[in-house]
Amino acid sequence: MYPLPFVLTVLLLAGQSLAAIKIMALGDSITGSPGCWRALLYRKLQTAGLTTNTDFVGTLQPDGCGFTYDGQHEGHASMFATNIASQNLLTGWLAATKPDVVMMHLGTNDVWSAKSPTELLGAYATLVKQMRASNSRMKILVAQIIPLNPRETSPCAECPQRVVALDQAIPQWAAGLNSTESPITVVDCYTGFNPATDTGDGVHPNEAGNEKLADAWFAPLASVIRTFGEGS
Ligand SMILES: *[C@@H]1O[C@H](CO)[C@@H](O)[C@H](O)[C@H]1NC(C)=O
Repeated sequence: MYPLPFVLTVLLLAGQSLAAIKIMALGDSITGSPGCWRALLYRKLQTAGLTTNTDFVGTLQPDGCGFTYDGQHEGHASMFATNIASQNLLTGWLAATKPDVVMMHLGTNDVWSAKSPTELLGAYATLVKQMRASNSRMKILVAQIIPLNPRETSPCAECPQRVVALDQAIPQWAAGLNSTESPITVVDCYTGFNPATDTGDGVHPNEAGNEKLADAWFAPLASVIRTFGEGS
């Protein structure tokens, strides 16, 4: 038996030496404004005991979602994935916050403006390269984005099918860039999400949609958080 003060000191030092797992949510207004699915996701992680060593990071501050949560983020309203890539915006956000994990739901504005899956996947590839330049062990979660059927501003009859085309192309693209050091997980945010009932405008999640997004992210993000406990 070790004396109790010794044990407590060791535990304290061990706790302090564990750097927090920094997690960046990257996206557009679906992620950021207010993006209360992130608050619901945080609460689910907290309930599962998975937030004791996490730090959600980003240059943007959280909006109020009715309860306290860790909500810094990079959900930039109106942003295109293709512009974030071509204007080199992510590198600055990465340098400012140094994440270990990036969870990305991005491309809705591009799809709305008829950017092709090829253009989008090219932009995603640039972003993945920048993530790995920032942290060679970056854990990357990429969403198959939620359906899009805008009802108010610029209705877009082709948008639903364009999202399907992008989402269908994501798994093969991700597999091609996957690595053991920096694994990519594809997160299905599409299946079961109904823009007629899970959004108010055909674009942004409402309460029901926020619940579905939180559910879609929970298991994949929980499993990435757990890998840090295994020393990887
Ligand atoms: C990447 O590799 C990991 C195993 O290292 C695997 O679990 C994951 O499904 C792979 N991702 C893709 C998109 O193939």
